[in-house]
Amino acid sequence: MTDQEIVYSAATIQARVRELGARLTMDYHGRPLVVIGVLNGAFIFLADLVRAMDLDLEVDFVRAASYGAATVSSGRVALTRQVELCLAGKDVLLVEDIVDTGRTLAALMEVIKSGQPNSLKVCALIDKTERREVALTADYACFTEAHGFLVGYGLDCAEQYRNLPAICRLRQPSTPPCP
Ligand code: IMP
Ligand code: MG
Repeated sequence: MTDQEIVYSAATIQARVRELGARLTMDYHGRPLVVIGVLNGAFIFLADLVRAMDLDLEVDFVRAASYGAATVSSGRVALTRQVELCLAGKDVLLVEDIVDTGRTLAALMEVIKSGQPNSLKVCALIDKTERREVALTADYACFTEAHGFLVGYGLDCAEQYRNLPAICRLRQPSTPPCP
């Protein structure tokens, strides 16, 4: 398609996910791990990541709805799907597609902490720091250099493009970009 340029190819993504999976395998060896994906954007990343982790682990999902301006999350986040697994005393890895302002993640972390996990860390496909508003950095990230509005590999613009195997930048996002 002509309205996107590839930022990270499918091969580059797969190589980074394998590296990150190996790192997580070392860091969480022998620990009771729950991997929690943030729907919908993290579904492909999480599916690849857990298969790159040679560990016993559990998988769950949350879904957050953010209310406010269309292009920047408001920080008023409601969970439309709750965690179902017991988190008490376990290590939790929260898997996000993109950390942008950080507001969604900050709100989600508070909810997950109320489940009294032993630890809580964040693994992002992309840690996009240019619009960060909350003092928060992903503990693990595949990519940290990205900017602009990205789609593909789970990332959407108005629910389109999630199935692209590469991560792409939209050249001419519609206005407003992605409600
Ligand atoms: P935050 O609360 O501003 O950090 O919002 C993060 C959420 O906004 C992510 O989970 C994505 O769903 C969405 N988002 C932010 N930037 C992008 C982007 O470049 N492409 C697709 N979705 C994005
Ligand atoms: Mg989205």
